Amino acid sequence: MLRPLLSSLLLTGAAFSQDGGQLFTLYCSACHGADGLGATGGQFPPLAGSPWIQGDPARAVKIALLGLHGKVEVEGRTYDLEMPPQGGVLADDQIAAILTYVRSSWGNHETPVAADFVKTTRAGLTRTAQWTPEELLKEHPLPKPPPPIANLTSRVYHGKWTDLPDFNQLKPENMEEEQSGLVSMKHSDVQDYFGLVWEGELTAPEAGAYVFHLDADDGARVIVDGKSLAEIHGLGPMNGSRPKEGKADLTAGVHKLRVEFYEYTDNQGIQLAWKKASSPFWQNLSDNPVPPPKEKMLIAPSATRAVVYRNFIAGVSPRAIGIGFPSGVNLAYSADHLGTELIWTGDFIDASRHWTDRGQGNEPPAGDHVVKLSNSAVLPDGATFRGYKLDPAGNPTFSVQLGTRLLLDSWKPGDRSLVRTLNLSGSGEALDVLLTDSLAVQGSAGTVQLGDQLTLKTDHATLLTKGSSTYVHLTSGQPATLTYQWR
Ligand code: HEC
Repeated sequence: MLRPLLSSLLLTGAAFSQDGGQLFTLYCSACHGADGLGATGGQFPPLAGSPWIQGDPARAVKIALLGLHGKVEVEGRTYDLEMPPQGGVLADDQIAAILTYVRSSWGNHETPVAADFVKTTRAGLTRTAQWTPEELLKEHPLPKPPPPIANLTSRVYHGKWTDLPDFNQLKPENMEEEQSGLVSMKHSDVQDYFGLVWEGELTAPEAGAYVFHLDADDGARVIVDGKSLAEIHGLGPMNGSRPKEGKADLTAGVHKLRVEFYEYTDNQGIQLAWKKASSPFWQNLSDNPVPPPKEKMLIAPSATRAVVYRNFIAGVSPRAIGIGFPSGVNLAYSADHLGTELIWTGDFIDASRHWTDRGQGNEPPAGDHVVKLSNSAVLPDGATFRGYKLDPAGNPTFSVQLGTRLLLDSWKPGDRSLVRTLNLSGSGEALDVLLTDSLAVQGSAGTVQLGDQLTLKTDHATLLTKGSSTYVHLTSGQPATLTYQWR
């Protein structure tokens, strides 16, 4: 009877050994990304290459158990978000399996984490609150990062070059070892008419395609394993049209880096950075950092529900309410002018300016076919904004009080269209609601052309044109439906 016993033991063993990759997908990847680079294009922090998971595993175990909040810097970027605790739902061996997976994936090369270690760490906790990064770093400081370029040396050459010379044929003035591990102009002893050659070693964390970014004033070349990847010739400034990018397929491990540079007169400088081709983040290899590309942070509706954005929107009076609908049509309503001032198709809003600079400037609509409907009060004096409601699909109804009358202004998406219903209730005179103060060109009956992309259609509602303005004539109890249709 030995055989059945043995196989049942094996089965039990298999049932209890945890699959770290699968658990990571279930419990972490929604925020940290299946590729460990941070979900939603890096809005969440990466685990690939993160020093927070390196070295002593206690730091990462404690984050997994209790979560983290507050400003945290990961690989040169700052996040100020919330990570919920995971310790309540994850057993010790599950956390161990996840962190073992994290510490050995995407170029991370750290030792496995044992379930017993998680158990001891959990038992030793004297708190239940989420960590702040400072509290955690007091107990577990981050490992000192290695220099970006290992064993870096610099050689200085004197001479007047307007293009890259063959430095191998020239005699350097001096040679230094550079502890900083960064290519720098500080390594030169003169201001004009000189050349610099740096040599060192780069460690590719994993095999794959890498991209190098080079800019220089005046010229430069970056050579990896003897192959030139990017070159800048002639004379000229940085941060203009001269930066170059070069690609290399690298094996995991150490590669020889050589950077050649010359300066004629006036300003001098070099910018060098590299990244995995799949990563959005550059690692600087020079003390002059590569300016970050302008990243978009698109606010987008879900597949089934509209999204609301309340902030300054360029082209709309200050109290703007933006609505992005799932079908790719958008509007911006002005609570000052009591009407929709902008409508557009495609992407909704790029909020990068607010999210990176904390509220500087107005966000322009991110999409296209932007139509400016009006720029002045839509309703007579005395009308006041009474807020807006959203139906279950997120479609808004804006309401405005006019004396004893109430105007409900509802918007729903259609196929490349927005369908608007205006409903006046209460007793009093009829009301003319401004539709546009600049665009209208009267078309056939019941149709108005608004620019060359947009047509406004009505269901028997009465449209009035006075000068360059077009109004819809509303009477109490008789709703009007207007369709804004893009071509
Ligand atoms: C709901 C989203 C979410 C989930 C799920 C989540 N995290 Fe996080 N994690 C975050 C956020 C947000 C931060 C940064 C918190 C801050 O800004 O203070 C973070 C930070 C971290 C950090 C430190 C910073 C870094 O990038 O290295 C580690 C390590 C980490 N999480 C590991 C995990 C592991 C392991 C799991 C799965 C067990 C997990 N997280 C699940 C959102 C999440």
